[in-house]
Amino acid sequence: MTDRDKANQNKWWKTAVIYQIYPRSFADSNGDGIGDLQGIISRLDYLENLGIDAIWLSPVCRSPQDDNGYDISDYQDIDPMFGTLQDMEELIAEAGKRHIRIIMDLVLNHSSDEHFWFREAKKSRKNPYHDYYVWRDGVEGEFPNDMRAAFGGPAWEWVPEVGQYYFHQFSVKQPDLNWENPKLRREIYDMINWWIDRGVGGFRLDVIDQIAKEPDRGITNNGPRLHEYLRELSRETFRKADLVTVGEAWGATTELAKLYSNPDNSELSMVFQFEHICLDQIPGKEKWDLAPLPFLKLKEVFGRWQTKLHGKGWNSLFWNNHDLPRIVSRWGNDGKYRVESAKMLAILLHGMQGTPYIYQGEELGMTNVRYEMEEYRDIETLNLYQERLEKGYSKEEIMDSIYAKSRDNARTPMQWSSGKNAGFTEGEPWIRVNPNYREINAAAQTGEEDSVFRCYQTLIRLRKEYSIFADGEFGMLLEEDEDIFAYTRTDADSRLLVVCNFHDREVNVSLEELADPGELLIANYRDACQRTVLRPYEARMYWKERQ
Ligand code: NOJ
Repeated sequence: MTDRDKANQNKWWKTAVIYQIYPRSFADSNGDGIGDLQGIISRLDYLENLGIDAIWLSPVCRSPQDDNGYDISDYQDIDPMFGTLQDMEELIAEAGKRHIRIIMDLVLNHSSDEHFWFREAKKSRKNPYHDYYVWRDGVEGEFPNDMRAAFGGPAWEWVPEVGQYYFHQFSVKQPDLNWENPKLRREIYDMINWWIDRGVGGFRLDVIDQIAKEPDRGITNNGPRLHEYLRELSRETFRKADLVTVGEAWGATTELAKLYSNPDNSELSMVFQFEHICLDQIPGKEKWDLAPLPFLKLKEVFGRWQTKLHGKGWNSLFWNNHDLPRIVSRWGNDGKYRVESAKMLAILLHGMQGTPYIYQGEELGMTNVRYEMEEYRDIETLNLYQERLEKGYSKEEIMDSIYAKSRDNARTPMQWSSGKNAGFTEGEPWIRVNPNYREINAAAQTGEEDSVFRCYQTLIRLRKEYSIFADGEFGMLLEEDEDIFAYTRTDADSRLLVVCNFHDREVNVSLEELADPGELLIANYRDACQRTVLRPYEARMYWKERQ
């Protein structure tokens, strides 16, 4: 057995496809307008039909919902809005019957300010829980430093009872946990092991690269003790079971990703890195400061990650999640070529090395929304609007940013059918349904041969049939071409060729690989045309045995 074979052994997640559910927007079983665990259970057959191996569930633990569950007040209970612990156990069991594992979202950088630990911590400096959080002395009105929170405003909040500021990288209701405290770390490990005992299949770790912050030095991501903490965390919890772990790491580089996803299992299975995601913003500014996508750079970024991690780490592959706009609206075309471009983006991504993540509704080609300001719900969007108005931006400018990047684009209810509220709820949905649900919905697509759903279903099946998807070496083609994204994957026996037109105009492609490309595995146009012409957003994937 070669070293690579050894590293791949038992790593079920290398051939898996993971589906992300944002529970409040997926399926509502009790008519309160908010999705819940029973709603998810009722849709497991749909997911089994799609063919996925695991569900990453955004947080369902008890939470005041200041940041839709990313502010947890009890890590070992389910929020009543979503159901009960019993429902969670039922979900794990029912999913298991369909060979689907449940991946929990662990929010370990911060808790809710309503968590018992924080309620104690703010009572006095002598309280045993005080040091579970990050406090700095100060004088009221004078912040310890000028660090800002990700959702706007200062990163410090004054607590008169203790005469100190606490640090929060996100909202004031999300105080940062102090990982320097070994007692806190022990409590976290015990909590994780408790979930492992309940049969979960893995964990997604929220902003994990921010846990080792050092605010006195202005450090948020990649603090000096980060990998020490991760190794301890893994040793005390994940490594005892056959789990998948994925860390959200906005600050990851390929070098750091090799540490995080070292095949020796010392840290995590993989990370979410966001280098490609940050390309369409003005460099050095915020995501709201829009810039056109630099296509050649996109290819360079993907190519680099594919190459650098090959055999040395593991990639995650994603376009979407609950924080990002819908990819078909972002880099595809949500008008005339919605179906073609949604499929092209799927084929392009799923041919690469790594574990693909599909965000709910992506498999239907769901799109962004353009709502009135009163219809947005996301704390980040609401804060941004106020902040930019105060800074003197025009309403039109702000709305353009929101239409393009608001997290609510991804959070509108799942479009199940053309019925009332897209089949999401019998009640009043917590956020408005995208009005295009009559045209774009699951019921219209699952039985339809040319649907976006079928394209995803086929890609998932192909990834299981051909080992080259997991192992093949990546080679970028036509690096300087302004329209075409093409690459090969090769292993000892075969070659995969993926050729995509990223734009809405027909282009000619001259590639020697196309002279004898092999068997066409999947494409997004039904009828064949000249092999060397790609129609708008055309994508093809070929497989060939090597002589
Ligand atoms: C990243 C999560 O994906 C996002 O939704 C959340 O607001 C922040 N972390 C804070 O937990």
